[in-house]
Amino acid sequence: MIEHKLFEPYKLGDLLLKNRMAMAPLTRCRAKDNIPNSLMAEYYAQRANAGLLIAEGTSPSPNGLGYTNIPGSYSEAQMQGWAQVCKAVKENQGHIFLQMMHTGRVGHTDNLPEGGELIAPSAVANPNMISTYNLGRVPYPVPRALTTEEVKTTIDEFTFSAEKSIEAGFDGIEIHCAHGYLPNQFLNPETNLREDNYGGSIQKRCRFVLEVMEEMIAKIGKNKTAIRISPFSYFEKNMHPSEIKETYKYLLTAFNKLEPVYVHLSFMGENEDAIYDLWKDIRKWYSGTIIVCGSYTTEKAILAIDNNIADMVAFGRDYIHNPDLEYRLQNNIPLNEGDKSTYYGLGPEGYTDYPFAEKV
Ligand SMILES: Cc1cc2nc3c(=O)[nH]c(=O)nc-3n(C[C@H](O)[C@H](O)[C@H](O)COP(=O)(O)O)c2cc1C
Repeated sequence: MIEHKLFEPYKLGDLLLKNRMAMAPLTRCRAKDNIPNSLMAEYYAQRANAGLLIAEGTSPSPNGLGYTNIPGSYSEAQMQGWAQVCKAVKENQGHIFLQMMHTGRVGHTDNLPEGGELIAPSAVANPNMISTYNLGRVPYPVPRALTTEEVKTTIDEFTFSAEKSIEAGFDGIEIHCAHGYLPNQFLNPETNLREDNYGGSIQKRCRFVLEVMEEMIAKIGKNKTAIRISPFSYFEKNMHPSEIKETYKYLLTAFNKLEPVYVHLSFMGENEDAIYDLWKDIRKWYSGTIIVCGSYTTEKAILAIDNNIADMVAFGRDYIHNPDLEYRLQNNIPLNEGDKSTYYGLGPEGYTDYPFAEKV
């Protein structure tokens, strides 16, 4: 059995977590009609061994449900669905944050519910293809640029949804400002061509996410507000490296004043060495809890904590295949093999049917 801080309790804001492992947010497309259900409750409860579960990307608005069968968190039915998930996790002594994900331009009109509209900071289409309910795999449409007034309404949608989510039983909210979704679309000059107060300079491009955070903190408190960023993973044209550093320095310095309970750093790519300089800088700019994520093994997670790169480590794909990941890692038990073909799609297959290890 491995003995290390990774497997020992950690105080996150007001919460005492069982360990320093987080389950990364993972879109699994099991929410038929965008409503969380009992299958999802079972899935999260199975994984409550993680110190912190971060529930999958969930939209605060009909406009942000750009993928098929992803959950929302604004209607009564959705909040009742989430309440049963939170209850199941609590019954297993777990803690759970919700990841608030507005897809913005990363979506298709065919996937949006009635009343939803494909919106973005600017009318710049994603150059890739997207799966839809009725049309197969098709090019992304051009989104409509939000008016300044609508930017404010969108911020209100985030805070309204955050309040509802806390009422449903979540321990906190992680704002998804990574991987090219709406808040990230505001940061990047490739997708933000605005000429009002929400575009142009670094300060103006960061304004949307900082206002979302500020207003969320005002409503639910800083110990319940967190954020995920991915400076190197935009999924298409990213910022110039020098601009990445300047932008994130500005952002993290602002976070340090607002004091969200954690900042979650995501990296999905190949050149891992490139990230460490920025991760070390971020440690200097922001003094709260840092979670890192991206291809971590037990050894790498221990090193990240021992080298003071991070306080906690999140695991993504390994939690898909191993409901009892914490037990397996601590006891050096081989991991189940995963099946990518069941990552997305309705039903329990490849979702709640991965085996637990025999207790040693
Ligand atoms: C099936 C799948 C769904 C994902 N969904 C999300 C998501 O909803 N929000 C998010 O921030 N990242 C998402 N990610 C990224 C993961 O959170 C994580 O950053 C990534 O898998 C790298 O960590 P890993 O190497 O431990 O798997 C997803 C990844 C996968 C494989």
